Amino acid sequence: MKVLAIESSCDDTSISIVNGDKNIEFLETINHRKFHKDHGGVIPEMAARQHLEILDLLGKSIKKINFSNISAIAATFGPGLIGGLIVGTSFAKGLSISKNIKLIPINHLQAHLLSPRLVSNIKFPYLCLLVSGGNTALVLVKSSNEFITLGSTIDDSAGECFDKVAKGLGLGYPGGPEIEKLALKGNNNKIKLPMPLTKKPNCDFSFSGLKTSALDFIRKNKKTKMFLKDFSASFQYTISKLFKIKILNSLAQLKKDKIIINDFSICGGVAANKYLNTELRKFIANQELNFHQVPLSLCTDNAAMIGWNAIEIMKARKIKLNNYNVRPTPNILIHEHF
Ligand code: KG4
Repeated sequence: MKVLAIESSCDDTSISIVNGDKNIEFLETINHRKFHKDHGGVIPEMAARQHLEILDLLGKSIKKINFSNISAIAATFGPGLIGGLIVGTSFAKGLSISKNIKLIPINHLQAHLLSPRLVSNIKFPYLCLLVSGGNTALVLVKSSNEFITLGSTIDDSAGECFDKVAKGLGLGYPGGPEIEKLALKGNNNKIKLPMPLTKKPNCDFSFSGLKTSALDFIRKNKKTKMFLKDFSASFQYTISKLFKIKILNSLAQLKKDKIIINDFSICGGVAANKYLNTELRKFIANQELNFHQVPLSLCTDNAAMIGWNAIEIMKARKIKLNNYNVRPTPNILIHEHF
């Protein structure tokens, strides 16, 4: 099994070839964040144009591919920004029709959740903390097509909170990596920030209150070098504490429901944060679970995980040749399928 995959849901244009033996034969991802940098976030129309240009460029690498070896073409059909989704899915549909190869529409969030399986021997069912720019959720991954959300954010995502707080600190976009860098030399305990929704024993997150009070605190203080470092360290520390509390609540919920899991992973852009990974690795080991790390290149948006998701689908069921009525769907939910 060999899949050619395309990802274009936000501000990364990516093409990959992945095979059923978990080999990533080709992966090229071009990020267009430099075009969005001055705006402090992704401008959807600009992103769509970038996807178009970059896919045209990456399309040249495709010319060298021997299509007789490709079993399917996969693309992200949602969720994401509609412009980018239209560009990527149209490209995939066109390629699929012209080469007479099956098309597999992929739910981007399910691809993130299955990405640990591309790089480790993680076993179903497992618990996964999905933390990307648009989502924060604790999900029980029961199989390649059964995803049960135990809790998710009721407002902002963790990634958005990182980005907005970084903007308040006067840092660049995306904010996560900038905060991580500054935090290395800061004091975790210097500033006490609120931990919303932690008094209730549920698995939902809320980051909007944390974001507002962080921005309020930043506004009231002089942004000295030391302040930036201490604030970043304290902010990251608060996020890690929030994650730990909600993971504990999820594990309690699973125990109550008599669901046994042995494995845990964290995926999505925020999972690229080394401090959070180290903290969660220790914490998960204390819960006597195996921690499966996704490499940095596969945490942020990439087409390899889209290709792998297609392989998981092909292993589980038969795929029709003509799948061309499926539409890009910007707001498809975690558990929904195309
Ligand atoms: O999954 P992802 O690449 O794409 C979207 O969901 O669009 O996630 C992007 C998010 C951004 O909010 C970014 O600030 C965050 O991931 N991120 C990080 C780090 N690297 C990326 N957050 C914290 N620490 C990082 N090192």
